[in-house]
Amino acid sequence: MPVTALVSVKSSGVTASSLALTLASKRPSLLAECDPAGGTIRAGLLAGQAGAGYGLYHLARAERTGLEALANAFASHLWPLDPGGHRKLLPGLTDPAQAAALARTWDALADVLHIMAEQAGYDVFVDGGRLALEAGRLHPIFTPAPLLYRADLVLLVVRGTEQSLTLARHVLPVLRAELQEQGSGGDALALLLIEDGGFRAHRVAEVLGAPVLAALPYDPGPAHYLTAGGRPPRGYGRSPLLLHARTATEHIGAAAARRRIHQHYPRPAASSQVAGILQRLNLQHPQAGVSGG
Ligand SMILES: Nc1ncnc2c1ncn2[C@@H]1O[C@H](COP(=O)(O)OP(=O)(O)OP(=O)(O)O)[C@@H](O)[C@H]1O
Ligand SMILES: [Mg+2]
Repeated sequence: MPVTALVSVKSSGVTASSLALTLASKRPSLLAECDPAGGTIRAGLLAGQAGAGYGLYHLARAERTGLEALANAFASHLWPLDPGGHRKLLPGLTDPAQAAALARTWDALADVLHIMAEQAGYDVFVDGGRLALEAGRLHPIFTPAPLLYRADLVLLVVRGTEQSLTLARHVLPVLRAELQEQGSGGDALALLLIEDGGFRAHRVAEVLGAPVLAALPYDPGPAHYLTAGGRPPRGYGRSPLLLHARTATEHIGAAAARRRIHQHYPRPAASSQVAGILQRLNLQHPQAGVSGG
């Protein structure tokens, strides 16, 4: 299964889309909330159930001990998003000031996410937040750059509006060049379109010079539930957002598989111990979960 990172230029729906994909995937799935500006799911969809003692920030210290310690910490900081525990969340930072501590953790976390995807069979999504640039490059603290370099696919989430496309046009060449130079290639980059505004997929692809890999409908009720929490709206489980998200996960899986056939990018060398720690996650069935998934 692929590791897919989602990013935006400006609050376009990264978190809602990442959650929709994670909840809609046909396979076991995992969302790592790695937005350096801070996570929003803990206070939103999780309604504060996961305390500050849980999540991404706590992995920084474990990483300093080694990959095995990181894998153990990772496994114990995942929060179930469904009663069966097949959909999991690594809750994000509680304070943007914590981002600096993560700068040296991203690379090892990328190893863990790839092991989850390739050896434990999870569909892995990364909420990479808004892109921040410094001197024409991805900012080393305000962007989880190593996670983007190492992702199988990087999806820039855009809306079909003039404003969204104008903003994206400036950032796309930088992101593509970074993935080309430091990542698995510029072709890892694609667009996820939120169908809001007058620009259709083919026009968005034309204007931005990048493929639209998937599109999600403008569906405010379910999107609001995913970002703000509360009670799921009527028909949420069969909502256009979740139904299209399910199709999108298929497109994402197929695109990642196609890329993999065409090139060999470096795979993490997991010790059997680390792989074992993460594979055991498949056998656990935690009790907590989020209603309506
Ligand atoms: N498919 C959608 N249809 C309708 N509204 C949406 C959709 N996706 C997201 N939204 C709404 O857009 C707003 C921003 O969404 P979200 O928080 O997911 O964006 P984001 O890119 O993660 O923003 P930030 O950069 O601030 O974290 C929210 O009000 C959310 O409900
Ligand atoms: Mg967000």
